[in-house]
Amino acid sequence: MTILELLAGRKATRAIAIEALDRTVIGDLAEAARLTPSCYNKQPWRFLFVTSDEGRDRVVGCLADGNKPWALRAPLFVVASSRVSDDCELPDGRRYHQFDLGMSVMNLMLAATEQGLVARPMAGFDSGAIRQAFGLDEQDEPMVVVAVGKPSEDESHLPDSFSGLGDRPRQRRPVEEIVTWK
Ligand SMILES: Cc1cc2nc3c(=O)[nH]c(=O)nc-3n(C[C@H](O)[C@H](O)[C@H](O)COP(=O)(O)O)c2cc1C
Repeated sequence: MTILELLAGRKATRAIAIEALDRTVIGDLAEAARLTPSCYNKQPWRFLFVTSDEGRDRVVGCLADGNKPWALRAPLFVVASSRVSDDCELPDGRRYHQFDLGMSVMNLMLAATEQGLVARPMAGFDSGAIRQAFGLDEQDEPMVVVAVGKPSEDESHLPDSFSGLGDRPRQRRPVEEIVTWK
């Protein structure tokens, strides 16, 4: 599979099967994230992998209401944070910890896609609540929670507004709008 085929095949669907994931598969997701490049090689990403029933309940309790009905089926939640104290801050004040984290999350999501899994990132969660629920380091800024699982054909648990979305054509700006040539 080419990288463009992998990217085109990735879709953040919400229909997830209630089925545990293999530990080796989960380990590959961590490895994909670990191999990400970062500014000054600071590697500011930190991940909390939550697979226990008790831990998953705690994550779901921190999600926005719109995410709860579909995400609660996910066998794995990845709470992805950037560690501010590991930022590469440039002399002009530019900071890169969130940029680096974003790239590592994308690598994790692509590794999940290659394994045939759904990996949907969510900004819809209460950051303070998740920080408290898992005792995150005060230097860690949680940016997304990624719901990971096997895709499901069954969409009966989804609100009507979410069903069939995975089959719709991808919505993206045309390349002319995002690329300028000189
Ligand atoms: C930073 C970020 C936050 C997101 N937050 C949510 C969310 O809270 N709930 C949700 O259902 N999808 C969320 N998404 C998924 C996007 O809605 C989805 O990626 C976008 O609509 C494009 O669809 P595609 O990924 O299938 O191409 C988020 C995506 C990103 C990158």
